[in-house]
Amino acid sequence: MRGCAVITGAAGGLGIPISRRMAEAGFHVLLVDRSPAVAQVADDIRSAGLLAEHSVADLSTDEGVAAVADAVRATGIPLMALVNNAGITRDARMQNMTTEQFEQVIEVNLLVAMRLTLGLRELFAEGSSVVSMSSRAALGNFGQSNYVTSKSALIGFTRALAQQWAPRVRANAVAPGLIDSPMTQAMPAEVLSGLVDKVPAGRIGTADDVADAVVFLVSDAASYITGQVLTVCGGRSIAP
Ligand SMILES: NC(=O)c1ccc[n+]([C@@H]2O[C@H](COP(=O)([O-])OP(=O)(O)OC[C@H]3O[C@@H](n4cnc5c(N)ncnc54)[C@H](O)[C@@H]3O)[C@@H](O)[C@H]2O)c1
Repeated sequence: MRGCAVITGAAGGLGIPISRRMAEAGFHVLLVDRSPAVAQVADDIRSAGLLAEHSVADLSTDEGVAAVADAVRATGIPLMALVNNAGITRDARMQNMTTEQFEQVIEVNLLVAMRLTLGLRELFAEGSSVVSMSSRAALGNFGQSNYVTSKSALIGFTRALAQQWAPRVRANAVAPGLIDSPMTQAMPAEVLSGLVDKVPAGRIGTADDVADAVVFLVSDAASYITGQVLTVCGGRSIAP
């Protein structure tokens, strides 16, 4: 067993496969989500003979962060990984975006990750790592000024963390591109196929593609990688 790994947003489209892959990689996973559905995700992982528990917590609150820290301590094993994956969208054109929509997205996508990471600071073991879920949208996406801002700020936070907590803790970000998820499944077929046509890899990404990148970054194979962004977009970010 490789230690405890906390995964946030663990009841979501990417959170479920990330949680499963992390458990398969030998972590005792602590799955956190504000949705009670996270209990079923932990059950399913345990059914496969792996180590999982869950915490239903709203990470926008100090109580939620404290509950996760208590749950990590209660495992009695070292904290080796944190995956800041919880995130939301509140899309609108720039001129129609309300301050509330902007603040909600910054709150969850940036401040939840910052608060939880700092809230677990004393628990991180030597050689542990933080992976935060950014997005290829950090480069810019129409109608998502709040999301773009949050995801690029998360990269800044990752770099600052990597500098300041080295060498005890590594910090990296994953930036998924077009991924098969409820969001993309809701798009009109012709819009989606137009987007897929722009992906050099010739296909939409899967949640497992993203989960594999997370598992790599927390592994010993990535022990010399910190402060970086691993873009998982089938080459879209370098396409003409
Ligand atoms: N799905 C994609 O195509 C895609 C692409 C790029 C980046 N991302 C990023 O990946 C991450 C996961 O995306 P997803 O598609 O699985 O989203 P999702 O909506 O399916 O899951 C997000 C989860 O976060 C949880 N959550 C939100 N706010 C929370 C809070 N305050 N406290 C605790 N839990 C909270 C939700 O309950 C939900 O289960 C997000 O950060 C998203 O921005 C997703």
